[in-house]
Amino acid sequence: MRILLLALAIVFGVLPRVSAHEAATGIVKERTASMSHAMKATGKSIEANRNLASIQEEAGRIREVAARIPHWFPPGSDAKPTDALPAIWQRWSDFQAKAAQLERESAKLAAAAASGDPKSIAAQFRAVGETCSGCHADFRQKQ
Ligand code: HEC
Repeated sequence: MRILLLALAIVFGVLPRVSAHEAATGIVKERTASMSHAMKATGKSIEANRNLASIQEEAGRIREVAARIPHWFPPGSDAKPTDALPAIWQRWSDFQAKAAQLERESAKLAAAAASGDPKSIAAQFRAVGETCSGCHADFRQKQ
């Protein structure tokens, strides 16, 4: 369980303050609200329940969000306030690959939860968290 909590801390560690985008409108508002809502709800519910069925369900939710990420970043959707960097559109295939990676890693998390093995669940939590920070490092304004 300690490993699991450590992994959770990493996932939570990528959750920044929410208030910065209160003034955002349109698609920037939609994507930041959806992202932080889905991701936070996921983290909280995993922490609160800690049962395999809910982890599986939440992993599925992350996967749905991951699949939508490319649609939330149409060209030119960089009106302030946003933390989206121009690199997203300059290296679009790389950005898409990172969203696809999140889809794969969250699918693996669901599979790990289905297997019930705490070690692989913890490892997969970490992999998901690293995928979040991997994309943020390249494509999101440093906070
Ligand atoms: C493919 C790239 C990518 C992946 C993968 C990704 N993000 Fe993001 N995320 C972004 C970008 C870009 C922004 C900035 C969007 C903006 O400000 O318009 C962002 C913003 C956010 C925000 C901020 C919302 C706000 O109101 O400021 C949260 C929270 C977030 N991501 C959580 C996560 C978590 C947790 C994961 C992993 C489960 C994740 N993201 C995976 C690219 C990604």
